Parts: sequence; structure tokens; C-alpha cells
Amino acid sequence: MNILVTGGAGFIGSHTVVALVEAGFTPVIVDDFSNSERLVLDGLEKILGRSVSCYEADCNDAAAMRDIFEREKPAGVIHFAAFKAVGESMAEPLKYYRNNLGSLITLLEIMQETGTPNLIFSSSATVYGQPEHLPVKEDSPAQPAMSVYGNTKRIGEEILRDVAAAGKPFKIISLRYFNPIGAHPSGLIGELPRGVPNNLVPFITQTAAGLRPQLSVFGDDYDTPDGTAIRDYIHVMDLAEAHVTAFQHLAARPETALYEAVNVGTGEGASVMQVIRSFEAASGQKLNFHISPRRPGDVEAVYADVGKAARELGWTARRSLHEALTDAWRWQCGLRKEDARI
Ligand code: UFG
Repeated sequence: MNILVTGGAGFIGSHTVVALVEAGFTPVIVDDFSNSERLVLDGLEKILGRSVSCYEADCNDAAAMRDIFEREKPAGVIHFAAFKAVGESMAEPLKYYRNNLGSLITLLEIMQETGTPNLIFSSSATVYGQPEHLPVKEDSPAQPAMSVYGNTKRIGEEILRDVAAAGKPFKIISLRYFNPIGAHPSGLIGELPRGVPNNLVPFITQTAAGLRPQLSVFGDDYDTPDGTAIRDYIHVMDLAEAHVTAFQHLAARPETALYEAVNVGTGEGASVMQVIRSFEAASGQKLNFHISPRRPGDVEAVYADVGKAARELGWTARRSLHEALTDAWRWQCGLRKEDARI
């Protein structure tokens, strides 16, 4: 069964391609390589022992996408392709709205035309802002987005809900990711941030590898046990497998108008200091860090209630924080400097 994986050369997309093949599906990557590298395809080929079909196309290009649907006749789509830099989204909002929402609408139109019902959408825990109750449940009220990027996820979910509510023949799940980290245990694929990483774990591994002088810990005056902010860090292979399970669930459901949002996290919160200590234990490296002021826009604590994923999809994260950091470090150590995009 062919499944289109838009953004399939990206961090979460590439790991999901592996999980799809392992589950017996045939992923077809669509990626414009605007924020991913072709070397990911080599890594995938080594892991899988065969190449994966890949089209270089922009999901906003309706003609190119129609052509791909025509050729591949996918049973559904896992839609990762989107811009994701929070800071850039604030400076260039139109670029983000055009790309992230335009591509979603284009895709939905083609899926409707071709009668392709199944869609998994990459959403984010950012839709919750700072929730009142933790762990946060899916029915917790969405908060005004802290960034344009976050708003594209919130509006994207609303578009999907409206499309399903209009009785169109769609079966859609939005997966609300918490903080994806780690890499494939082979060390052949992983995260490839461009320039200075925004996210904690790639910043940690690049610092330990000597590519950055020091990690800044953004704030130690939060109302948390050690004063640093708390997140729910999930191994990217667990997250990848959640997509496969969600897709299997959709494909098996008879309804023709279905929309669900589901949290994908571990259910456990870890503070920035806990991540640093866990990384030091996993890597045997002492990390150079200092405390700096809070980062604007950061929330204090958020972690997932994972009951819905367990109940409705039968999925639960299996890998530990230690395992995720071990795999992230293996990937960093194997990365050649010329491929590192630093
Ligand atoms: N942090 C540091 N130092 C760094 C980077 C991060 O202390 O150099 C801290 C942050 O302040 C935060 C925690 O580490 O407390 C996690 O930060 P990340 O940037 O890794 O992750 P966020 O929770 O901020 O990001 C998540 C998603 C993003 C999404 C964002 C929206 O991973 O994709 O929420 O707010 F854009």
C-alpha cells in the first residue's frame, strides 16, 4: 500500500519512512529539499537495504502533486512538509501562512478530487500554550498561539476539523507532537538542524561535540523542582511508530468523515537540567553550560496525557530519555563536518 510522505526527507519524516517499511507499507517521499538533504536518502537506503521512491516537489505545486497522485495512487498521506522555525515565522509570517496552510489546502483539494481519504497531520503541543492542568489532555482549550508557526498548526487543525465536519470523505488524525528527540539507533539518520539549533537536544550534542562553545540554559527561576522548564521528550522512533499505528487505525475505520487530535508524548516531564544530566550519563561527556535568562515565548511546563493514544490507537511510547539521548549522541558522533549544516 503506497503512502505519500510529504517532508519525508526531514527529521520526523525520514524516521517514519523506516517505520512504515518495517510495517509493510510502501512510503513515497515528496520533499522539496528546502530544509533537508539528499544524504538522508542514502541513510534510508542503508537502513532498509533498498531505495525509497522520492519525488522532488513543493506541496504547494498543485500540478506536480496531481501528477504524483496520478502515478502513485496512494492510500493516504502523512503530511510533514512545513516550515518550522519559530523565530523566522515571526519575521516572515506570510511565508509561513502561504507555505504551511497553502500546502495543506492544496493537498486536501487533490485528496478530495482523487478520493484519497486518509490523512495524518503533523500538529504540535504548541497549540496548548501553557495549559492549566498537567498532564494536558486533547480537550484542553487551545490557547492563542505564541508564534506564527504555532498559529499555522492551530489553524491547520481547524481547517481539517471543518473539512471533516462538512461531511467530506476524509479520515484525518492530527498528531500533536511533544518534543521529538533522538535518532535511528543505526546512527544513519537523525536531526540535521541548519545553523544554530533552536532546540535543546541538538544544541547539547553539538556543544558536546565541540561545535558550540557552551549551552545556555534558558531560565532557572521557573516554578519547577529544579527551576528549569519541563517538557515531554519523545524518541523520534516512538513518534514515527505512532504515525504508522495512526495510519493503520484510519485505514481500518469505516467512517468517511472522521477527525481526531491525539497527543504523542511519553506522559513524563523532564526538566532542562534532567536532560543535561541524562545526556552526561548517556554520553560520558561533561557538558559546558551556563544559566541565562528565560527565552521569550517559552512555557514553564508541558507534558502529555497519553491516555487517548493508548485507548484509541493502542500506541504507547516504549523508549526512555536515556535511550533517546544515547541515539542522538551516536548520530552526532557519526556526522561528518561537511554534512552537519552548522
Ligand atoms: N532550551 C535551553 N537552551 C537551548 C534550547 C532550549 O535551555 O539552547 C530549553 C527551552 O527553554 C525549553 C526546553 O529547552 O525549556 C526545550 O526547548 P526546545 O526549543 O527544544 O523545545 P520547545 O519546547 O521550545 O519547542 C517545541 C517544539 C517546537 C515548537 C515549539 C513551539 O519542539 O517545534 O515547541 O513553541 F516550535
